[in-house]
Amino acid sequence: MNIDLTFTPLELDKKDLRGKTVVVIDTLRATSTMIVAFENGCSAFIPVATIEEARKLAEERKEPNLLLGGERGARAVEGFHLGNSPRDYLPQKVRGKVVVMTTTNGTRALVSAKRAAGVFIGAFLNLAALGQRLIETQTDVILACSGEKDLFCLEDTVCGGAIIDYLEKSGIALLKNDAAMSAKILYEYFEGDIYGMLLASEWGQYLESIGLAKDVRICAQIDSSKLVPVYREGKIFLDR
Ligand code: MLT
Repeated sequence: MNIDLTFTPLELDKKDLRGKTVVVIDTLRATSTMIVAFENGCSAFIPVATIEEARKLAEERKEPNLLLGGERGARAVEGFHLGNSPRDYLPQKVRGKVVVMTTTNGTRALVSAKRAAGVFIGAFLNLAALGQRLIETQTDVILACSGEKDLFCLEDTVCGGAIIDYLEKSGIALLKNDAAMSAKILYEYFEGDIYGMLLASEWGQYLESIGLAKDVRICAQIDSSKLVPVYREGKIFLDR
């Protein structure tokens, strides 16, 4: 299996995605939050790039089960039902609901990934389940880090490295590009303390500084979920 990693959506835009599976990773916090939401009964997400698009879509559809979610600068958007904290997505709020979601980097990466043959949602929370799904899928894979405003970020890269490590420990022979090789080395450096790595990352420090360290703790719960959401035809949902 060929496995590539892209540090930013800008790099992903340059890749040929035909026949490939892309894993979108925004471990702090968008993809982790989505996995928690599905665990709590959420039925789907519709990722959109801008706040305006999200509001417009909700207005057009006027469906009672539609909620608006997302962030800017990690803070909930004014007038939205939900932010981007996993702690917002409680069963009583999200069960059976569709969330129109806009985040700074996570939804940007999803938009770039949609040309691929398949798109999965990845985070530390669903590492093993995701690894199994990639093994079943048997296509070449691109691990797409969401980064920070089209720049490198540590936490998504280490998560990509963890996925590579899982596949290799499962006996899969991988042909890695240089970025994937680097991610694997970074993962080996941090694997003993993923929570510490998340908290030390620039975005982790920022989240802690605005009182959201609890979110970082949740995003560090390795393999707490067996769910692997897919992104298909504009929606993120569970297909099994
Ligand atoms: C993003 O998409 O940029 C992040 O998920 C930001 C956040 O932590 O809310």
